[in-house]
Amino acid sequence: MSTLIARCRAVLAPAAVLVGLIAALSATTALRAQGTGTGTGTGITIFDGADLALGERLIRESQCDACHARRVGGDGNDIYNPKGRISTPGALRGMVEYCNTELNLGFFPEEVTAIAAVLQRDHYRFR
Ligand code: HEC
Repeated sequence: MSTLIARCRAVLAPAAVLVGLIAALSATTALRAQGTGTGTGTGITIFDGADLALGERLIRESQCDACHARRVGGDGNDIYNPKGRISTPGALRGMVEYCNTELNLGFFPEEVTAIAAVLQRDHYRFR
């Protein structure tokens, strides 16, 4: 598992930047096109309609916090954006998608969105 994470981390930085850039671009376009909807209360357009209850359940069931806690201690929440590396909602969703692929979690796109929406609401709080 630690080799996986080491490998994950090695490709993570450049890949995350790339994913973030692409996602940030499309997010900006989406924002401009649709205005700022607040359908789910996250206040972020790309998370409109996200199933927050589903996201909460998937985060619980996928041991996200347990693994993060092994790395940063406490409840694991300090893993979220310690250095502001993730700076847009699109980058956040891209990161969840990337880990989904890398860790073989097998989430559907709407599940990735739901998870990212919960992290937005509880931790990242982009405006
Ligand atoms: C096997 C261990 C492991 C599991 C399981 C895991 N993660 Fe992670 N995650 C990590 C590690 C390690 C990092 C830090 C990577 C780094 O700093 O480069 C990380 C980083 C992240 C980040 C980026 C934090 C930031 O702001 O820089 C997000 C978002 C994230 N994980 C979401 C999740 C979600 C959601 C799940 C569950 C669906 C999950 N992770 C499951 C190990 C794990």
